[in-house]
Amino acid sequence: MEAVDAVPVHLNGKVAIEDFDLTVVEAENGDKQNEREIVLGKNVHTTCLEVTEPEANDESTGDKEAYMASVLARYRKNLMERTKHHLGYPYNLDFDYGALGQLQHFSINNLGDPFIESNYGVHSRQFEVGVLDWFARLWEIEKSEYWGYITNCGTEGNLHGILVGREVFPDGILYASRESHYSVFKAARMYRMGCVKVDCLVSGEIDCADFKVKLLANKDKPAIINVNIGTTVKGAVDDLDLVIQTLEESGFSQDRFYIHCDGALFGLMLPFVKRAPKVTFKKPIGSVSVSGHKFVGCPMPCGVQITRMEHINVLSSNVEYLASRDATIMGSRNGHAPIFLWYTLNRKGYKGFQKEVQKCLRNAYYLKDRLRDAGISAMLNELSSTVVFERPIDEDFVRRWQLACQGNIAHVVVMPSVTIEKLDDFVNELVEKRSTWYQDEKARPPCIAADVGSQNCSCDLHK
Ligand SMILES: Cc1ncc(COP(=O)(O)O)c(C=O)c1O
Repeated sequence: MEAVDAVPVHLNGKVAIEDFDLTVVEAENGDKQNEREIVLGKNVHTTCLEVTEPEANDESTGDKEAYMASVLARYRKNLMERTKHHLGYPYNLDFDYGALGQLQHFSINNLGDPFIESNYGVHSRQFEVGVLDWFARLWEIEKSEYWGYITNCGTEGNLHGILVGREVFPDGILYASRESHYSVFKAARMYRMGCVKVDCLVSGEIDCADFKVKLLANKDKPAIINVNIGTTVKGAVDDLDLVIQTLEESGFSQDRFYIHCDGALFGLMLPFVKRAPKVTFKKPIGSVSVSGHKFVGCPMPCGVQITRMEHINVLSSNVEYLASRDATIMGSRNGHAPIFLWYTLNRKGYKGFQKEVQKCLRNAYYLKDRLRDAGISAMLNELSSTVVFERPIDEDFVRRWQLACQGNIAHVVVMPSVTIEKLDDFVNELVEKRSTWYQDEKARPPCIAADVGSQNCSCDLHK
């Protein structure tokens, strides 16, 4: 079996596991030339807010209350400023959940199976299942045929989807493109699965020619495939139909593969993009997951995971202590999150999301065009609102705009909270700063043709 890179590999029944050390230097393919420094964020320990023991007279003086109130007020101000300058992560920061403030006094917990009430009565399953039904309709699977739950995040959706795949095919090999989210490779490590990394096209989409070669090299083992509905860095959407066709052409019948669709980023956007390939359970897929705090906009991390009912029984067991069934990754589950999702889905509906998706795509094109017009290398995939461009060399600028960076590229993910005014502020500032970074002939903007294609690169060689 072929396995690539530093992912766990079954070797004659033994398993080699990469450790979880946070290393500062990452070696790609063992190729020294590709070694690069990863810039880690500041150490928070030097600025953390200490917890102090209450004084005996705190209640009478009110000092401690006043201190805490001032800390919170400063923190709130900081959040407002940071929200104003956020561009790099795919979070919709524009929402108003004032109506739900009345619920914060309750410890709402949906521990156990969403469809089977547990003995703990302070739950929100009625909202949770309502939300799941909405997503089941979106992804075209009958109520009686699906199972799902509201997760803590997109990562949990991936951990669950891949676990279901592993339970369906215990000796299956996990295939995932190199640009898959790190949680996919973490799942492989956690479950000690053989994992094969598949190459990508320049766009970031999975390269099905390479996929085929790797499938054919491992024909004797079932295939579990992670399909990206929006990759983390470039927002590329894997061609689901081509993935299925490649499996079939390589001799994998439907009873020998399991597809998990990682829709953390665009799972909820793609259905509203014209000409986009459809993610639907009418195709031979096993599960789909999406993050709830990204495009939907939720103040706490959350997500949705939907799979086929037929698969879930393999994974679940009854728990007497709960009077419910255990088929989720986590035990206790945030019962507030489903209410926030329910609230937004009700307010916006399919039409509201469609409008927001169109706005995001329009604004993303606007940003890409403004960058290109300013002579800055930039790329935007057709089905995406992630604009990839040359990494700013000033880390303060990167931090100010909270840009996500990888190698020589950075990106802005245009979400509903990203307005034209914000994009203008960003580009104007970038253009101004850049003229100082590159005023000296010796310092030149990097060539990022390998990341974005030569037609999108404005370096000295390609412009
Ligand atoms: C493609 C993809 N999958 C999974 C995740 C993980 O989602 P979460 O941050 O909700 O755990 C992300 C996060 O950005 C992502 O981009």
